[in-house]
Parts: sequence; structure tokens; C-alpha cells
Amino acid sequence: MTATGAPYRRGPFQEGDRVQLTDPKGRMHTITLVPGKQFHTHRGHVAHDDLIGSPDGVTVTNTSGTEYLALRPLLSDYVMSMPRGAAVVYPKDAGQVVTMADIFPGATVVEAGVGSGALSMSLLRAVGDTGRVLSFERREDFADIAQANARSFFGTDHPAWTVTVGDLVEALPEAVEPGEVDRVVLDMLAPWECLGVVADALTPGGVLICYVATATQLSKVAEAMRDHGTFTEPAAWESLQRGWHLEGLAVRPQHRMHGHTGFLISTRRLAPGVRPPDRKRRPGRGYSAQEEDPGTGTPEQPPGADDAEWTPEAVGERVSSPKRVRKLARGVVPPSPR
Ligand SMILES: C[S@@+](CC[C@H](N)C(=O)[O-])C[C@H]1O[C@@H](n2cnc3c(N)ncnc32)[C@H](O)[C@@H]1O
Repeated sequence: MTATGAPYRRGPFQEGDRVQLTDPKGRMHTITLVPGKQFHTHRGHVAHDDLIGSPDGVTVTNTSGTEYLALRPLLSDYVMSMPRGAAVVYPKDAGQVVTMADIFPGATVVEAGVGSGALSMSLLRAVGDTGRVLSFERREDFADIAQANARSFFGTDHPAWTVTVGDLVEALPEAVEPGEVDRVVLDMLAPWECLGVVADALTPGGVLICYVATATQLSKVAEAMRDHGTFTEPAAWESLQRGWHLEGLAVRPQHRMHGHTGFLISTRRLAPGVRPPDRKRRPGRGYSAQEEDPGTGTPEQPPGADDAEWTPEAVGERVSSPKRVRKLARGVVPPSPR
């Protein structure tokens, strides 16, 4: 069996398979098939033996007549229900990481931290059995949970995965040769602390992608990427996923959604000794009070730096000219006296 064997197993359900049972109200329960065992709810039970030998996608009826749909869980189902040490990267963001960081079969990928292992599993799927995912996690207890989760999903230890317990900054230089890594994925509180070791490990043209939860982290890591001088201009985005309710004529967005998960920011490693090209877009006018670089005429620090002046222009707000404001004021009808 390949490492990816269990979730890709085709054919009838077998002993040891995970099966997701969905009841008529859409409630899901995940069971692991054991001969002779039963799945109980307060309204009857289903015998595992009724599922073993049946094809994926059957329905099964419990002892009180409730019908369940039985399917092998997808990776996206599994990560949302598996035990969590730390918050997981949601499937919508894991999909973005895999595509936008261009994780390819056979790639060497560095990941930190591992947390619960959700993102690790998407990375392992994308690199396949011939690639390498070198994951680093400070907390041994989290690394243990993540490895157990992945083992349970893949049915065995994935041959492409190495988990190292330790801080990425100390452990990465010992684990890889300079320039050996194709892609780096960081999901941690302070990714800016790791840029030096990441730049050393990445191959020229290699991709670094960071997942951060707050705008303050996003700003800090963007500035650190620019300041480091070995990366291309970063690009940042978030993705919102809004489910739709599909019932008769009531086809509309669902009322509830996860309004926020995190931001992604990506950049690429420049060739050794190459400086990032000057940016043509100038920061807002309010920023010109800063000291300027005599060579380029642009402020030495871009907006968002710690000592930047907080003006409407510097944060990109459109500001009406004093002339326009005076004109608007003349046109305003004064409040009538009370
Ligand atoms: C939000 S969790 C990662 C969740 C994971 N991506 C997932 O999908 O399950 C962040 C993890 O990064 C770890 N961490 C933070 N800084 C680290 C560092 N410098 N080196 C290694 N691990 C780090 C933390 O211990 C924590 O477990």
C-alpha cells in the first residue's frame, strides 16, 4: 500500500476504514470500522458489519429506521473533525497555499509550525510520495498530535514527511543545505523572525508563503520581507468563502459564514546578490515628510514602518483638497436656529 493508500482506497469498505455517516438532518459522525462493533445514537444503532463489504456511498438504516449516508471522508472533512492541538488552517486556505505557493509533485517543502497537521496533510498530498515535506514544530505535544492525525488519515506514516521538534530558526540550517528548498510555508505568530534562515534555505525563484491571522502581523511580515532585501515585492490577499443554501426556490447565500480565517502573503527568493527592483509606486503624499533616499527620491521607509507618520494620505485615504472642502462648506445649508 502506498502512503496515500487509505484515503484513496477504492472498492468496498474494509475493516479499519474511516466512514462518515450523515443522518437526515445533515449531522455527521465519523466511525472506524471494526467487525462486530456498533455505532450507537440515542435512537438505535448501526452494525459496522452492515458496512464492511459494502461500496463507498451506500445508505444504511439503523435499528429504528433512520437512514444514514455512508462515505469515506475527504481530507477537507477529516481536518475539520480531527483532534486539534492548535488552530488549523481551514481547507479553503490550504487550497490557496497549495496553488499559490505552487506546491508540486516531487517538491522539497519546508513548513513551520506543524500545529495539528492540517496544512501538512495538504502539502503531503501535493508533493506526493516522491517529494519531501520537512516540518518544524516548537512544541513536542503538538507534533505528536499532528503525526497521529496524519497517520490516522493516511493509514501509515507518510514517506515524504519528516517532523522535527524545535524552533525553525535553529533547526532549519541544520536540516537542509543552502538553496536546497523549493517552497517554504510559515503558519506561526512571528514569521518575520524566520526570514534569514528561510532566505538561506530557499532556491533562487523559490516561493515563501505565510499565513497570518491579523493585519498587524501582515504589515510586520510585509515590511520585514522588503527590508530583508532578498525577496521580491510581496503580494497579500485573503479569501472569503460563503456557502449557499439550496432549497427549492430559496437559493441564496447562507446566513452564517466564517467571516475571517487569515491572510496569505507570498514572495519569491531573488538570486544571490540581486537587490529587489525599485518600486515605481510611490507611497502616499503624507509620507513625503519622511527622509528621502537621494538616489531614488522615495522615502527611505515605506508606509507602515514603525515610525511612519499616520496621516490620511499615508494610509491611502482619498483626501479632498482644501479648495474643494471650502467649496463644499459654502454649499452646506446652515442648521436653522432653534
Ligand atoms: C497555528 S499553529 C499551526 C497550525 C497548522 N498549520 C495546521 O494547519 O494545523 C502554529 C504553530 O507554530 C508553532 N511555532 C511558532 N513559532 C515557531 C517556530 N519559530 N518554529 C517552529 N514552530 C513554531 C506553534 O507552536 C504552533 O503549534
